[in-house]
Amino acid sequence: MDKILILDFGSQYTMLIARRVRELSVYSEIHPYNVSLDSIKEFDPQGIILSGGPSSVYDEGAPKVSADLFSLNIPVLGICYGMQLITELFGGKVAGSAAREYGYAEIEIDSKDPLFIDLDDFDRDGTISVWMSHGDRVEMLPDKFYPIGKSENSPFAAIRNGPGDIYGVQFHPEVVHTPSGVKVLENFISNVCEAAKQWNMGSFIEQSIRKIKETVGDHGLVLGLSGGVDSSVAAVLIHRAIGEQLYCIFVNNGLLRKGEVEEVISVFRDTIGLNLIYVDAEEKFLEALTGASDPERKRKIIGEIFIRVFEEEARKLENIKFLAQGTLYPDVIESVSFKGPSATIKSHHNVGGLPDEMDLALVEPLRELFKDEVRNVGRELEIPENILTRHPFPGPGLAVRIIGEINRDSLFKLREADAIVEEEIRKAGLYESIWQAFAVLLPIKTVGVMGDERTYENVVTIRAVHSSDGMTADWVELPYPLMKKISSRIINEVKGVNRVVYDISSKPPSTIEWE
Ligand code: XMP
Repeated sequence: MDKILILDFGSQYTMLIARRVRELSVYSEIHPYNVSLDSIKEFDPQGIILSGGPSSVYDEGAPKVSADLFSLNIPVLGICYGMQLITELFGGKVAGSAAREYGYAEIEIDSKDPLFIDLDDFDRDGTISVWMSHGDRVEMLPDKFYPIGKSENSPFAAIRNGPGDIYGVQFHPEVVHTPSGVKVLENFISNVCEAAKQWNMGSFIEQSIRKIKETVGDHGLVLGLSGGVDSSVAAVLIHRAIGEQLYCIFVNNGLLRKGEVEEVISVFRDTIGLNLIYVDAEEKFLEALTGASDPERKRKIIGEIFIRVFEEEARKLENIKFLAQGTLYPDVIESVSFKGPSATIKSHHNVGGLPDEMDLALVEPLRELFKDEVRNVGRELEIPENILTRHPFPGPGLAVRIIGEINRDSLFKLREADAIVEEEIRKAGLYESIWQAFAVLLPIKTVGVMGDERTYENVVTIRAVHSSDGMTADWVELPYPLMKKISSRIINEVKGVNRVVYDISSKPPSTIEWE
């Protein structure tokens, strides 16, 4: 399969480049900028993209590639810092400039160059709109390079070496604010690299099934199924490969949303036909959580009990040699990138970071995929849409949405309130456009009046955020009539709650969850 290699210099958009390339049906992988030349040869890409990055090429210790990269005869596209690096490596000059450009800019392009053919928003005056984000700029081109694009502030906004295959663009084609950006990337991939479009979910599934069969042989494999997208897709994919040799352990920790246990059992055991082992461990979890109110302590307790329960079940099975996890590509990249550049470090661990001492080999069939690709695999595998589009839900579940101590009564209140939030947001047709929406139960009581009675009951807050990866988020401007409906339903239907408030904090500085 033809592939594109992306070398990461720490841009916050590196992952976006990889996604765009894959959306164009060409497989791409991100590697740190200092990966060895031998590994690059082994990966055997059709083209290489050098990402942007926060450094200045003239700084001491700035991340660089060896000039030998360019003797491999593989086309290269440098984006922003990547272009400045090419300039410097070939003897040109880059400098900090008063003419910084952040945001929208117009560039005049050579529309006959293979990189810029057929751009959607190319207009009569010969320009396209692009999105810039740079302090430095190319001041002098290296020998044999010539400009194929210029902006008011950057005489060398896009460059190329002679008639060769080394390109640089100062702007960011990977962001949506560059309307022709996808086409520029497509031109690079198709016209310059001549990479064939062979990456699609159907072929991914076929390959994975083959690989899983080969790896697992006639042994058994266990997987912790949570009902979330990742573990669900991993389970069904593996089931396609090895059928009854897959054992899914579904632990009810007593902290799940309303109706979740029934739904997971009905979909995965009754409809899809997985070998599902259901463990009702509610009692164990709640008992262990008694008296715990510190969020990190709650997380720790839940993690430990989960491993214990999971292990206990797994040990009852015979011939188990493998443990499957729904690890995704973003988690894999975080662990190889230099200085943790392109994605902020997550402190959470997903359910399933499991039994070391059981000595099981890991199977991670989704480790090459982005979340939206996982959903598409799920669709091909005919997993119901409501599972695939369900909002992310933290491993410690409702425990981190009940502030302070947890008990059956508070769980009941939160579950009911949360179900109302979800139901009303779905009815309003907003569920799929929102990253996460949920209720949080606060440990304070306020005075209210219901009928002629004075009440003294709990407060529920509603949280709804837009986000693309959970790393940053902004609160959703829910329509007032919808908030009104949610509020009056919660206060009327959930006994013990007499006040509803709305959380209007973005991340950062707040987090999405309250704990
Ligand atoms: P925060 O609250 O850090 O959450 O803004 C970012 C994303 O991660 C989810 N989250 C967790 N997921 N275990 C998980 O598996 C956890 O302990 C955990 N805490 C938060 C959160 O729901 C959001 O999607």
